[in-house]
Amino acid sequence: MIRFEDTTVSFIRDGKDFIAVDKVNLEIKKGEFFGIVGSSGAGKSTLVRTVNLLQKPTSGKVFVDGKDVTDLTGNDLSALRLKIGMIFQHFNLVKNATVFDNVAFALKASNTPKAEIEGRVLELLDLVGLKDRAHVYPNSLSGGQKQRVAIARALANNPEILLCDEATSALDPDNTKEVVQTLKNIKSKYPITVLFITHQMEVAKSLFDRVAVMSQGKVVEVNSCYDVFAHPESQAARNLINKSFEGVIPKEVIEHEQNLYLITFKEENAYDPVISYVSRNYPLVDLSIIAGNIEYIQQKPLGRLLISLRGTDEGDINSALEYLKQKAFVHKFDREVIANA
Ligand SMILES: Nc1ncnc2c1ncn2[C@@H]1O[C@H](COP(=O)(O)OP(=O)(O)OP(=O)(O)O)[C@@H](O)[C@H]1O
Ligand SMILES: [Mg+2]
Repeated sequence: MIRFEDTTVSFIRDGKDFIAVDKVNLEIKKGEFFGIVGSSGAGKSTLVRTVNLLQKPTSGKVFVDGKDVTDLTGNDLSALRLKIGMIFQHFNLVKNATVFDNVAFALKASNTPKAEIEGRVLELLDLVGLKDRAHVYPNSLSGGQKQRVAIARALANNPEILLCDEATSALDPDNTKEVVQTLKNIKSKYPITVLFITHQMEVAKSLFDRVAVMSQGKVVEVNSCYDVFAHPESQAARNLINKSFEGVIPKEVIEHEQNLYLITFKEENAYDPVISYVSRNYPLVDLSIIAGNIEYIQQKPLGRLLISLRGTDEGDINSALEYLKQKAFVHKFDREVIANA
């Protein structure tokens, strides 16, 4: 549905070439809920903006529905943009227009017959649960409701693709849940392809089928959402996962502990008694559990424990670690990432 082929975007910065997106190769299938995660400045927005040519690639190509769109202009570009809806972090609603009119604008812009507009707007507002707010102004809505209006507007012309750039990042947890639920709802009713950028791993977990991790303009990892959380291969993915513990565990604890490891158990091992095995077999190693949970990602259980390993014998600590690595995915919990978050 969307294919990036060596897609590259560079900007001139301080008189020098700066590569914001670096030879990205990636294919997003029709109907997928596809996520792009990465830290600030990784190039996520710039990459996604090449899909509807808000940003033209400097080199490489972008395909939509098998068609090379890289050089489209004029009417062809307008036709492409009609197929692609987009929502943003700050909603971009017209303040002095009602909710109804905000959605109606998109239909007028595509020359929808006047007689069809009212019915279609109400249908869209119903889809996002805001039919009863049609005649209020955006200022009287919560952030989540504003974003739902923006979603209705983005879907007005039945796009095949919805691009979402940090659509939940300006919202509090309750409003985030509301928008996430709206998107899930839409996805279950329509076979739309969604490309969603976020740095919030909580959002990633609950929405995506597959995820691409970006770092310094490159895609450094692509996998199913479950597998990215179960065994993050790239440092960028590990950093994002580690960072998601920020606020869950007091900073003081993290700063105080030396040897912190995050242990991730996949489905079949989620309930293994590995901790008691370690304490029995490595009596010189002190293993403390700092945090732990089992959660469901893509309907599959994933267990995680944040542990600290202490002891006087480095060899014993390493053996205990080796044992844990046979049973689960283990990565060092980098305190720097949290401390600087
Ligand atoms: N128009 C531009 N001119 C110059 N540099 C730009 C431009 N747009 C983006 N950049 C730079 O390209 C890099 C990637 O930016 P981009 O906005 O794609 O990152 P991002 O991953 O979306 O980050 P964030 O999470 O903060 O939104 C950044 O270093 C940014 O400063
Ligand atoms: Mg961005």
